[in-house]
Amino acid sequence: MKKLQMVDLKGQYKKIKDTVNNSVLEVLDTTAFINGPEVHAFQKELEEYLNVKHVIPCANGTDALQIAMMGLGLKPGDEVITADFTFAATVEVIALLQLTPVLVDVEPDTFNIDPEAIKKAITPKTKAIVPVHLFGQPANMDAIMEIAREHDLYVIEDNAQAIGSNYHFKDGTTKKAGAIGQVASTSFFPSKNLGCYGDGGAIFTNDDNLAHTIRGIVNHGMYERYHHDVVGVNSRLDSLQAAVLRAKLPNLDTYNKARQEAAKKYTAALKGVEGITVPYTEGENDTHVYHQYTIKIADGKRDALAAHLSKKGIPYGIYYPIPLHNQKAYKDERYKEADFPVTNRLVEEVISLPMHTELDDEQISYITGSITEFLKQ
Ligand SMILES: Cc1ncc(COP(=O)(O)O)c(C=O)c1O
Repeated sequence: MKKLQMVDLKGQYKKIKDTVNNSVLEVLDTTAFINGPEVHAFQKELEEYLNVKHVIPCANGTDALQIAMMGLGLKPGDEVITADFTFAATVEVIALLQLTPVLVDVEPDTFNIDPEAIKKAITPKTKAIVPVHLFGQPANMDAIMEIAREHDLYVIEDNAQAIGSNYHFKDGTTKKAGAIGQVASTSFFPSKNLGCYGDGGAIFTNDDNLAHTIRGIVNHGMYERYHHDVVGVNSRLDSLQAAVLRAKLPNLDTYNKARQEAAKKYTAALKGVEGITVPYTEGENDTHVYHQYTIKIADGKRDALAAHLSKKGIPYGIYYPIPLHNQKAYKDERYKEADFPVTNRLVEEVISLPMHTELDDEQISYITGSITEFLKQ
C-alpha cells in the first residue's frame, strides 16, 4: 500500500510535473517575478472559472480577509459576526483591524455558521457577517444573504476551504462559493483544493468600486505611482506561484471530483457504523468539495480512536480542538458557554481523515477497516 498521508502533494505533483516545471522555468527566464504576466493571466482565468468580475491576487488567505475588510471601510468598533468553529485566521484579522469579533455557534450537521445564531447576535453596531465555507461545503447562503439584506450588512465569504464548490439557491440558480457575498477571500496554501507551492491568496468581488479600492490597498494604498491615498499593505501573489496555479486551475474540477469520489467511498464504508456520523451534504454532491472529510465520533471515543489510528500508521487531523471563544487571544466576557453548545460538542467529537486527490481504494479500505475494527471491539 502507498504510504498514507493527510495530503499527498508529491503524488499530485508527479502527474503535472512537466507542465508546472515548464511554467516555472518560463518565469525564471523572464525574471518578471513580481506582478508579471503570469499573475494577470491567472487572475483572468480565475475570474472566468468563478464567474466573478474581479479577482485580486494577494499574498495569502489571511491577508485576503483583512484586505476585504479594509476595502469595505470597516471601522474600529464595528461588529463582525463569524463562526466560533473555524481556523483562527478568520477572527484574527477582525481583531487586528480593531473591529469587534462576535463569535456565534454553528450547525451540528454542516459545521457551518448557524443563521439563527447570526440573527440573535445582530446589534446596531453590526456591519458584516463572515460565513466560512468550512471543510469544503458552503454555508447556508440563502439564509445568510437574506439576513444581510434585511439588516443592511456586508457578507464576506471566507472561501479558503471551498474553492470550486457550487451553491444551489432555493430559487434554482447556482453560484460558485466565493461569488455570492459582496466580497470573498481564498487561500492557495499548498494543501488547499487549489494550492500553490508556497503562500498565496485572492479576493473576489463583483463590485467595480470595491475592486478598485482593494487593488490600491494591496499595493501600499497606491492608485497612482507614489501617490498613497489610503493606508495599504504589501500583499502580492508572486509570479512563480501564479505559474503553478495556472498549471493547476484547469485540473481543479477533476481534483474536486477525486475528493468527492474518495468521500463517497469513505461514506459507503462508515455510514451506519454505530458511533460514527459521516459528513452531511445538502442536495447535489458538488456542493461539498471535501477540503476535509470530517466525521463525528460519539461517546467520548474520539481521542481513543485517534490513538488507534496513530498505531495503525494512519494520519488524522483534529480541526479544531478548541473553540475560538475559549482561545486566550479571543476570550471575552460577552461569551457564555451556553451560547456555544454545538461548537463545544464538535471540538470533542470531530476527526478528519486523510483527504486528497491521490487516495486509492486500498488506502480507503485500510483506513475505514481500522476505524470500524476499533469501534466494534
Ligand atoms: C477558513 C480559513 N480561513 C483563512 C485561512 C488563511 O489562509 P492562509 O493560510 O493562506 O493565510 C485558512 C487557512 O488555513 C482557512 O482554513
